[in-house]
Amino acid sequence: MAKNIAIDGPAGAGKSTIAKRIAKELGMIYVDTGAMYRAMGLFFHRQGIDPQDEAAIGREAENAQVTIRYENGQQQVYLNGENVTARLRTEEAGQMASRVSVYPAVRRKLVWLQQQMAASQDVVMDGRDIGTVVLPKADLKVYLTADSRVRAMRRVGELREKGQECDLQEIERDIIERDYQDMHREESPLRQAEDAVLVDTSQMDIDQAVQAVVRLFQERVL
Ligand code: DC
Repeated sequence: MAKNIAIDGPAGAGKSTIAKRIAKELGMIYVDTGAMYRAMGLFFHRQGIDPQDEAAIGREAENAQVTIRYENGQQQVYLNGENVTARLRTEEAGQMASRVSVYPAVRRKLVWLQQQMAASQDVVMDGRDIGTVVLPKADLKVYLTADSRVRAMRRVGELREKGQECDLQEIERDIIERDYQDMHREESPLRQAEDAVLVDTSQMDIDQAVQAVVRLFQERVL
């Protein structure tokens, strides 16, 4: 049976960096589900569809083919045959993903794909509904979070490293708004699964957070 680790939590908690490292250490595949929602957001944006227009999103969702491939061990996201990975990590793509991820037509499609991936291989999968909806029987569930100011400071650091100027308060506002949207939507809202372990990384660096989860996996699963 494939082994699965589910990692959920709010925007900017360090999920993808930490999950990627855990996967490497444990010899598992990292699946970034946020990137799939971002690709769907990009698709609707390119089609000129208003993210409020549920009927149009429901109609068009079936025309978006999101596929995941691994090239040199890195996840690549294809949208209708085009590699869009490099276009997905902007704040706008994150906001767009958060808006379109409220619709059942979008979620159904991606959840199915995610479940297929986890059934046949050992995965560390991160997102908002992995422990609650996508992989309710995951071997280990972690809810990874951090204080919103700490998350905003980390995001500012990443953006500045890439040479992009940004405003801490604006980023924190954006993070709080996205948390609200993700936690209060009707369909699969972000919440900690009852059997998930809470890991608050506000006072941890990446190494400490990775080791905390690897230890949990060794204690509970191996
Ligand atoms: O993890 P991220 O920031 O790349 O995710 C972008 C948005 O996609 C997030 O704000 C909500 C949505 N999302 C979701 O609804 N369910 C997931 N499993 C992953 C992401």
